[in-house]
Amino acid sequence: MTPDERGDLIRSVSCHVSAKRMEHILRVEALAVKLAQSWGISVEKASTAALLHDVAREESLSTMTALVQRSDDPWIRDLAQTPAPLVLHAPAGAVIAKQHYGVSDPAILRAIAWHTTGAPGMGHLAMIIFLADYCEPGRHFRGVGRVRTLLYTSLEASMFQALTQTLAYLRHNGLPVDKHTEAAAAYFSRLVEHVPPPAAQP
Ligand SMILES: [Fe+2]
Ligand SMILES: [Fe+2]
Repeated sequence: MTPDERGDLIRSVSCHVSAKRMEHILRVEALAVKLAQSWGISVEKASTAALLHDVAREESLSTMTALVQRSDDPWIRDLAQTPAPLVLHAPAGAVIAKQHYGVSDPAILRAIAWHTTGAPGMGHLAMIIFLADYCEPGRHFRGVGRVRTLLYTSLEASMFQALTQTLAYLRHNGLPVDKHTEAAAAYFSRLVEHVPPPAAQP
């Protein structure tokens, strides 16, 4: 993506979201790019996924539902069953990225679609977008600092910590939990159990 293409993408996304939301999107992009550089994955993909991750955030529930239900991708349609309506903007964003912005890379589409719930088997790009959205400097909720301290040590441990905190928050407040979030927490719990602890410092 050239600087001009990035500028065009930002201008286009700005037409669909508030100025405040656009500031959040740009903070997510900045952190996602930093994480992509640190973890050795494509900065361009991180930038594209971050700029588009909330493109559907201010669409109506009926628009988002229609987009997700009519998707060609079964793993996107699966998210239409969510009991948490807030989740829908993520798969709807992936549909818009594909249909209106010509994004065909499955890693970018999955990163957008799973940025709210997480999912088992997330790749590096999907973890980075999820975590950049969770940890961008505009976030100030309890526990965010704990995840920030893990970002450059282990993406999997960061995911496990973030998902555990999210599930605790949702359950404590009696809010609906999407099955992808529960499955992702179980997946990262198994992964983290198998990651050897860092070697003791001499
Ligand atoms: Fe979002
Ligand atoms: Fe976001």
